[in-house]
Amino acid sequence: MPDNRTANNPNQPRQVPLLDLPRQQAELSAEIDEALKRVTSGASYILGPEVKMLEQQLGAYLGGVHCTGVASGTDALVIALRALAIVRTGKEYFCPDDEIIVPSFTFTATGEAVIHAGATPVFVDIDPVTYNIKPEEAAAAMTSRTVGLVPVHLFGNPCPMDAIMDLARRHDLFVLEDAAQSFGASFGAAKLGAVGTAGAFSFFPSKNLGGFGDGGAVATREEDLAAVIRMLRTHGGKDKYNVEHIGYNSRLDTLQAAVLLVKLKHVDRLNRRRRAIASYYDQHLRGLDWLALPSAVAGGEHVYNQYTVRVLNGKRDRVREMLREKGIATAVYYPLPLHRMKVFAGRCKTAGSLEQTEKACAEVLSLPIEPLLTEEELEYVVQCLRAL
Ligand SMILES: Cc1ncc(COP(=O)(O)O)c(C=O)c1O
Repeated sequence: MPDNRTANNPNQPRQVPLLDLPRQQAELSAEIDEALKRVTSGASYILGPEVKMLEQQLGAYLGGVHCTGVASGTDALVIALRALAIVRTGKEYFCPDDEIIVPSFTFTATGEAVIHAGATPVFVDIDPVTYNIKPEEAAAAMTSRTVGLVPVHLFGNPCPMDAIMDLARRHDLFVLEDAAQSFGASFGAAKLGAVGTAGAFSFFPSKNLGGFGDGGAVATREEDLAAVIRMLRTHGGKDKYNVEHIGYNSRLDTLQAAVLLVKLKHVDRLNRRRRAIASYYDQHLRGLDWLALPSAVAGGEHVYNQYTVRVLNGKRDRVREMLREKGIATAVYYPLPLHRMKVFAGRCKTAGSLEQTEKACAEVLSLPIEPLLTEEELEYVVQCLRAL
């Protein structure tokens, strides 16, 4: 029986967090404090030099793309879609007849962004092994009104971008990668977010590259698209006193950019650590007949924003409660598929049975994946799971 008492207080169950931002902050605080001080003494808070520097470094990291900092990952999706509407249709918004294929098993923002951009999301099913959009399902969902695809690299696991890009090329569709959970991951030789027509990133604090608040970025190789994205984030024009498009106030804060510049230097190391944790779980949780472990897509490098298992036989919520009693934090991403949410009723279409999506919502459980977890904490999680 594993011991779940802490050394200093034997009555207190040990706490293993899903993620521990204060722990990460303690490691980088001197570097980040200095960077923040430079911003406050220069007081260039809006689109200051750190924003440009970050955009250049992100663009280089992603393999030579244009990168534009925006206020959140949600805005990154909305602005990318709006820019695609402007560049590809000549109109400010898509129209409800325009269909965009999106997995139903994702965070709300992916579907919400499609509606903000004026189009109709068509929700499709996932691959039960990778939790990602299945190219065959996307192909089957296509109609003469399909204008684009939004694959989501869920939990940091790359979608099969070769098949998705092939489908898009054959039907002249755009591909907007939702790379909110997959900063640093790759498919083949390419970094995710730089494979499709555009890629959207989130710098929400819990993401692999996370700031001290909301933030995001849009990446694209296409110069004309990048120019429109830049305009949309500052009210829709090169000159904000004489604008061309219906824009937003959606700039990435200089303070966030300063934090992210520091964190970018550490992101590959922390992603390696996430992969090491995943591999530890893979090895030590193998063989439990009530648990299915996640699988990385062939040809891709997973960055484990989440390590998400399936608890079989309808026992997910019980297992979660038992782990909670032992001080182990877990999460359910996501309990409800997008096609079942009230907000999408009458505003979306569905394709196929979405059976795998529904099943995943009932079975998934994300385990602690804090990159700075100790060996002892990891052992404890594994021991508790094996003892259930
Ligand atoms: C898959 C996915 N897309 C989009 C977003 C939206 O990002 P943000 O919270 O920065 O707006 C998130 C954030 O959780 C996400 O996980």
